[in-house]
Amino acid sequence: MEKRVTKAIIPAAGLGTRFLPATKAMPKEMLPILNKPTIQYIVEEAVESGIEDIIIVTGKGKRAIEDHFDNNFELEENLLKKEKFELLEEVRASSRVEIHYIRQKEAKGLGHAIWCARKFIGNEPFAVLLGDDIVQAKKPCLKQLIDQYNQLKASIIGIQQVPIEDTHRYGIIEPTSKSNRSYRVKSFVEKPKKGTAPSSLAILGRYILTPEIFPLLGEHNVGKGGEIQLTDAIQQLNNIQKVYAYEFEGKRYDVGEMLGFIRTTMEFALDNQEFGLEVEKMMTELLLKRNIMSFEN
Ligand code: G1P
Repeated sequence: MEKRVTKAIIPAAGLGTRFLPATKAMPKEMLPILNKPTIQYIVEEAVESGIEDIIIVTGKGKRAIEDHFDNNFELEENLLKKEKFELLEEVRASSRVEIHYIRQKEAKGLGHAIWCARKFIGNEPFAVLLGDDIVQAKKPCLKQLIDQYNQLKASIIGIQQVPIEDTHRYGIIEPTSKSNRSYRVKSFVEKPKKGTAPSSLAILGRYILTPEIFPLLGEHNVGKGGEIQLTDAIQQLNNIQKVYAYEFEGKRYDVGEMLGFIRTTMEFALDNQEFGLEVEKMMTELLLKRNIMSFEN
């Protein structure tokens, strides 16, 4: 029988140094955009895409993630007593998916984190979702990639155009041909030096991979930044079987750095059905006040 994509890996072992001191005692994945931790947006996308089992690769100081997706009896009782049924439903929803945990004992990079989950995945195609990229789309981003996988039966890497001056921050593809949104790829390059990127099509945190990637990751080749890079193993995989890139539809938010995080929070607040208009008013007032003050000075 043909193998479906039912498992996903979410690496969450990173140190979160960009958000210190907030991340000194709290995992960066628990930083909220409005009232939801960033990792919950990622888990929800996986579930909406039909994923049945999620493995989160954690590290030191990440217990709050496990607690978040666990049942919280006291909190549920409390909400029930106060008849806060909507909130109760939200709290319960975050513990309904089957989530497993494994620890990455050393910070050896993204490629190593994925390799740590190999026994959980076994000999099946699987998904990877990175927590720094939230994607809002009509059809969930991961579902778009899974649909492609079902047609092509090959690894698919989610990409989008980024400004050329930002290419050094991402894995970049060198495409050879294109059909609709799907690309054949000559090479995958991790964070090319400024001015050397083969295109401005960047890998943006969503992957469908075949299990043949694991022996390649297991070679533990060290790449950019002294880390075992997933992009390098994908490039090796591309030499032995077809790997496609797919330009997914939707808006991607970078919550892995401070300015992206602030922007995402502002946009989500403005788009919020309950208080979006209030927020718009608030922002306009703030800006007007600042303009008036700069005229006065
Ligand atoms: C990782 C990947 C990179 C990808 C990026 C997307 O980099 O290594 O190829 O483009 O995620 O967010 P990181 O941002 O973890 O350094």
